[in-house]
Amino acid sequence: MRVLSAKEGYNKFNDIRMQIPVCFIIAMEAEAKPLINALSLKEDVDFAPGLPCRAFTGSFNNNPIALVLNGKDEQYNLDLIGTQAATLTTQLTIDYFHPELIISAGTAGGFQRKGAEFGDVYLSYPNVVFHDRRVDIPGWKEMGFGGYSVKDIRSIADELNLKTGVVTTGNSLDMSAQDEAIIEQLNGEVKEMEAAAIAWVATLHKTPMFCIKAVTDLVDTEHPTQEQFMTNLKLAVNNLAIKVQEVLIKLLG
Ligand code: ADE
Repeated sequence: MRVLSAKEGYNKFNDIRMQIPVCFIIAMEAEAKPLINALSLKEDVDFAPGLPCRAFTGSFNNNPIALVLNGKDEQYNLDLIGTQAATLTTQLTIDYFHPELIISAGTAGGFQRKGAEFGDVYLSYPNVVFHDRRVDIPGWKEMGFGGYSVKDIRSIADELNLKTGVVTTGNSLDMSAQDEAIIEQLNGEVKEMEAAAIAWVATLHKTPMFCIKAVTDLVDTEHPTQEQFMTNLKLAVNNLAIKVQEVLIKLLG
C-alpha cells in the first residue's frame, strides 16, 4: 500500500466527520498517562497522519471523550511543549473531533504567596492570558496578553472544593523578573505553557474551553523550578487524573 504524504493524509483526515463533544488537550505523555489508564482510552491511529500529535478516545459514563497529546519532537524524542505545538494540536483536534468543549489539562507552577501547595488542582477562571508577549504599544499590548474568557466552572469548583484562578501562559519553565511583574499585573495564579494558545484557537472556532491544572512547583520560592517539577510530577498527575474524573461527573453526569 502506498503511504500517504503528510499533505494527502491531512486532506483525507479533514474529510472524516467525527464528533466527540469533550476533548482534552495535554502536552506531556506523563501528564496524560494516569488519565488514559483510568479511562481505558485507546489510540486512534488515523488521527493527524504524518504529524506528531496523538489522539486517544473512549467514553466516560457512556459519553464519548477524546484526549489529544502534542506528541514527540522528532529530533529530540521528547514531548512537544509550549504554544506552537498547542496551537497545532488544537486546530487538528477541532478539525477531527469537532468538540463542543475543550479542556486544557496538565501541570503548572503555582504561587506560594497566593496559597498554592504542591499537588493542588486548579480550574481556570475568569480567563487565560499570555505573560511573555510584550509589545509596549497601545492595543498591541493588550492583544499580546490575550485575555481569553473561559467557560464559567465556578459552581463545579465550589462543589469539588477546587481553587480557581487566572491561568497564565509563556514559553519558559522558569520565571524572569519581567514575567513575574506581568503575571502579578494580570493576576495570574497558575503558570504553564499551553493554555492561552489553546484558548486562542478555541476562540477562533467559538468553542468553549477551560483548564484544569495540577501544581508541580511553587515558582515564588527559592528551590529551582525544574527540581520541584521532577519531584512532584507523580503527585500532580495522579491528583489531576482523580480531579478530572470528578469534574467529568459534574459536567456529564
Ligand atoms: N509546568 C509545570 N510547572 C511549570 C512552570 N513553573 N512554568 C511553566 N510550566 C509549568
